[in-house]
Amino acid sequence: MPMIKGKGVGPSTSTKERLMVALAEDHQQVCGTIFRKWRGEHWMDGTYHLIDLTAGDGLSEQASCGRRYSYDVQIFRSAMKEYPSNFMGVALEREQKNLESFIETLRLACHEKMVERPVLFDPVFEALELGTLRCEAGDHRTFDFVKALPMAAQKKYGLIVFDPNPSKENLESLRVIAALTRRHPKLDVLCYLSGTAFKRISTATDFPNVWEALQALNKQFWLMSELLGQNQYAVFLGLNFKPGDWLDPYCKIRRLGFVDVITEEGQARVKKLQYTNKQLEEMNGRTP
Ligand SMILES: C[S@@+](CC[C@H](N)C(=O)[O-])C[C@H]1O[C@@H](n2cnc3c(N)ncnc32)[C@H](O)[C@@H]1O
Repeated sequence: MPMIKGKGVGPSTSTKERLMVALAEDHQQVCGTIFRKWRGEHWMDGTYHLIDLTAGDGLSEQASCGRRYSYDVQIFRSAMKEYPSNFMGVALEREQKNLESFIETLRLACHEKMVERPVLFDPVFEALELGTLRCEAGDHRTFDFVKALPMAAQKKYGLIVFDPNPSKENLESLRVIAALTRRHPKLDVLCYLSGTAFKRISTATDFPNVWEALQALNKQFWLMSELLGQNQYAVFLGLNFKPGDWLDPYCKIRRLGFVDVITEEGQARVKKLQYTNKQLEEMNGRTP
């Protein structure tokens, strides 16, 4: 897959952008419902947290089709709009140039759609406070989440977003997510992962396959998209409450082709992510 400014761009990129926005925005609405339902409860922190581990440069690869903003920028903007007074965000990006572009693009996007809520930017890009959004150039594997998200008596709700370049490093990043969700079990996880990359990595190391890796992230329920493209990418949303249990805000998501991984269809997709075609054929007894 060709790389542009540190991110891979392929035929599935536009679908990814659309799905990531749809899931993140639905998640923001679900949390809004939860906050309203349990308002005033001592265990409820009514702040929405959005933690993007791979913020990128803020630009959509579909710019030529008129979509300028990356999904990251779109979901930060919508979260800040949905939660004007109770939002807390962290955007991390390793490449300084990318982060500068991300901030500029987010500023533009917010000014376009949120003129009523002017946002202030510090000219220093390394560590920047935008209201309650902290954008930082650095490696998420060494970022001090304990300091950024101190433990509180109340539970923190929100979403961790992870969209890595397919490399062995991701494995360490998944450990970062696991530590975060152990500490803050109400933070859900939205990620975009390549089954093919994981198969390659886990064959070369003793690391688990993609499904085992996701299971280590302390989420009880996983929704999964169809497999996208040759590299078998999929969008995953990990939650702690069963979608559809007491409210089903995810009907739109189902229409986008997502299934619970525990369903028959979900298990079939997971198998394709876990095993090579050859292994699948062998399991099905088609080869001796
Ligand atoms: C696949 S790109 C996705 C970017 C963005 N989500 C988008 O779609 O525009 C991954 C991004 O994460 C950044 N990145 C990779 N590893 C990182 C790390 N360990 N810490 C912080 N950023 C990282 C890369 O520089 C790159 O911009």
